[in-house]
Amino acid sequence: MTARKARAIIDSAPTGEAPRVALVDLARSLAPLLPDIHARLDHLAADGAFTLGSELEAFERDFAAFCGVEHCVGVSNGTDALRLALLAMDVGAGDEVVTAANTFIGTVEAIAMTGARPVLVDIDPATGAMDPRLVAAAVGPVTRVVIPVHLYGRPAPVAEIAAACGGRPIVVLEDAAQAHGAMLAGRRIGSLGKAAAFSFYPTKNLGALGDGGAVVTDDAALAEAVRALRHHQGSSGDRRAPTRVACTARLDTLQAGILRLKLPHLERWNEQRRAAAARYRVALDGLALELPPHDPRDGRHVYHLFVVAVERRDELAAALDRDGVATGIHYPRPVHREPGWEWLGYREGDFPAAESAAARVLSLPLFPGITDAEVNRVAGALRRHLERADPA
Ligand SMILES: Cc1ncc(COP(=O)(O)O)c(C=O)c1O
Repeated sequence: MTARKARAIIDSAPTGEAPRVALVDLARSLAPLLPDIHARLDHLAADGAFTLGSELEAFERDFAAFCGVEHCVGVSNGTDALRLALLAMDVGAGDEVVTAANTFIGTVEAIAMTGARPVLVDIDPATGAMDPRLVAAAVGPVTRVVIPVHLYGRPAPVAEIAAACGGRPIVVLEDAAQAHGAMLAGRRIGSLGKAAAFSFYPTKNLGALGDGGAVVTDDAALAEAVRALRHHQGSSGDRRAPTRVACTARLDTLQAGILRLKLPHLERWNEQRRAAAARYRVALDGLALELPPHDPRDGRHVYHLFVVAVERRDELAAALDRDGVATGIHYPRPVHREPGWEWLGYREGDFPAAESAAARVLSLPLFPGITDAEVNRVAGALRRHLERADPA
């Protein structure tokens, strides 16, 4: 890819005053579905079934089939999906759960809420995911679960991470909150471990019109335990003796109805994300920034986010904002640098790769329905600012 080709793509962008490019524009993919959504909501409202019921069960069947697993249990959000999956695995005080130092804070909140101790592992800069070579040193006699995070929609190396547990009885729970539809070695993300947790937060690749989440698994007993935990150990007729305190953490039936309508569009939306990412890769080639690591042999990336790494990131973000280009930072601090998490006992410098990434990551606009012209405009603005910063 030559700089000339990259420039040709950018130069095809229209000039003049253009509207802002949003980081995410949910209305683009939602607008064509609105009539169907209204009709489904009317139907469900007339039905009067607002919790549990056949619509939730239908979505659970559809999403389990999509993920290539036997069971799906709809829950209130992705954090609860992780938390209830851990509780269903009987994880609690005295246990340790290993995860990546650069994940969204919800992953470690879920671990901590069970009473278990979160143990962090640095990332491999070549993949952006938990480094399997460091997992062996992080696991020990009280490690119960390891949570690989498919951050930004890129499959984490689950088999290598599991192998690094060295034959100990450690369960793999995938954090698939950002990776609906991604694949690794011909299998769907969500089907690679004992269980997986999804979030249906509105901006996710499959998002509700509010909060939602799911646990998927092939293990019937585990699914049953999550079902009991999300709903007070079952209804009064079939309530079982609590091994763990349950709660209200169901996926709303209305949200399940909307997710069921949206699911058949997910593959197409993911292809749109992948096409925009491919366009960025060409248009940003040769610039002084790191493109998101991705080797096609590592599976099917679904680009929940398109995250570049760049020096003087905050200055660049401010300049792009002045140019009408919105950006995001996912995430500004690794977990051990988040206020309130000092009790984990880590210090600055403990996870150098995650710390370096946090200082440099910048998420560019990317969502289903983003136009080529918008991608070109973002790339053109980046090229202008980066070439100005480095005239050589
Ligand atoms: C990697 C990751 N894990 C967990 C979560 C938690 O999901 P929720 O926000 O639905 O609780 C998210 C959501 O942002 C996430 O991105």
